[in-house]
Amino acid sequence: ALVPLRVVLDHAAENDYGVAAFNVNNMEQIQAIMEAADETDSPAIIQASRGARAYSQDAYLRHLMQAAAELYPHIPVVMHQDHGNSVATCLSAIENNFTSVMMDGSLEEDGKTPASFEYNVRVTKEVVKLAHARGVSVEGELGVLGSLESGEGEQEDGHGAVGQLTHDQLLTDPEEAAQFVEATGVDALAVAIGTSHGAYKFSRKPDGEVLAMKQIEAIHARLPNTHLVMHGSSSVPQELQDIINKYGGKMKQTYGVPVEEIQRGIKSGVRKINVDTDCRMAITGAIRKVLLESPEKFDPRDYLKPARQAMKEVCVARMTAFGQAGNA
Ligand code: G3H
Ligand code: 13P
Ligand code: NA
Ligand code: ZN
Repeated sequence: ALVPLRVVLDHAAENDYGVAAFNVNNMEQIQAIMEAADETDSPAIIQASRGARAYSQDAYLRHLMQAAAELYPHIPVVMHQDHGNSVATCLSAIENNFTSVMMDGSLEEDGKTPASFEYNVRVTKEVVKLAHARGVSVEGELGVLGSLESGEGEQEDGHGAVGQLTHDQLLTDPEEAAQFVEATGVDALAVAIGTSHGAYKFSRKPDGEVLAMKQIEAIHARLPNTHLVMHGSSSVPQELQDIINKYGGKMKQTYGVPVEEIQRGIKSGVRKINVDTDCRMAITGAIRKVLLESPEKFDPRDYLKPARQAMKEVCVARMTAFGQAGNA
């Protein structure tokens, strides 16, 4: 059944686990997540960005999600708007059966300019009022996602940098976080700790300087009852980079967020972990392999089935590592 995010994260907090939130743009990605959830007996969070909604069209997405709920009635499924940029985006998501919305007021509506605390509170509070009246959960974000390595912030869609930011802007302040949660009433809070979207997060295996897990611990100490969200949390596994490059791809060597660091976060209040890039890489690697090894094939199912299977394996691995398995 489709359920609000809050229900799933409350259960996760009571039982000390985290829940992966996977991004989708099409049927096969939804199928991969649902198969993984069914196999591991996990709750599922399926999220669509604004770009995903535009690509898949709201009506297709709405009915695909309805199909997922119908096929797996025993699995709690959250349908979440990832990085809503305005009250209007969040409202149109709610009208399309989303059970949870993110109001990302860390940036202004253009998705580029770091927003003031006051702006963020105002728009997030407005979304909370509208969403809660309809039983829909709200995720807010405080602090700009971006690299502590380069000092570059990024746009809310992960494409391109917003430019140079100070170290402080790239880290969520615990005291401000407490004020923000109090003022807005959000159900979950996304925090900035040095992660960024996409494959190119770190130029070497991250240490505490560039991946500030300590900041999570400080925020959790100040806000022990708030569900924290980690964005940009793909692990960018070496084996997926290798598969892509082995079969004709050209990805530069890169490092993501190690699963052990996420597990450490889960001990400190992290309840929702956003993963998109790892799924994209699994899909692309599988498709490249089929097309390179079997150039005579042209039935899309010949490569979409292995692609779906490869994404499912990533989902099973994360669901197991984050502890959501067995908790459907
Ligand atoms: O926010 C980043 C997610 O990975 C979604 O990406 O905006 O390209 O759909 P997207
Ligand atoms: P990744 O690019 O690390 O998968 O992050 C996804 C994300 O944060 C979506 O909001
Ligand atoms: Na989100
Ligand atoms: Zn994100």
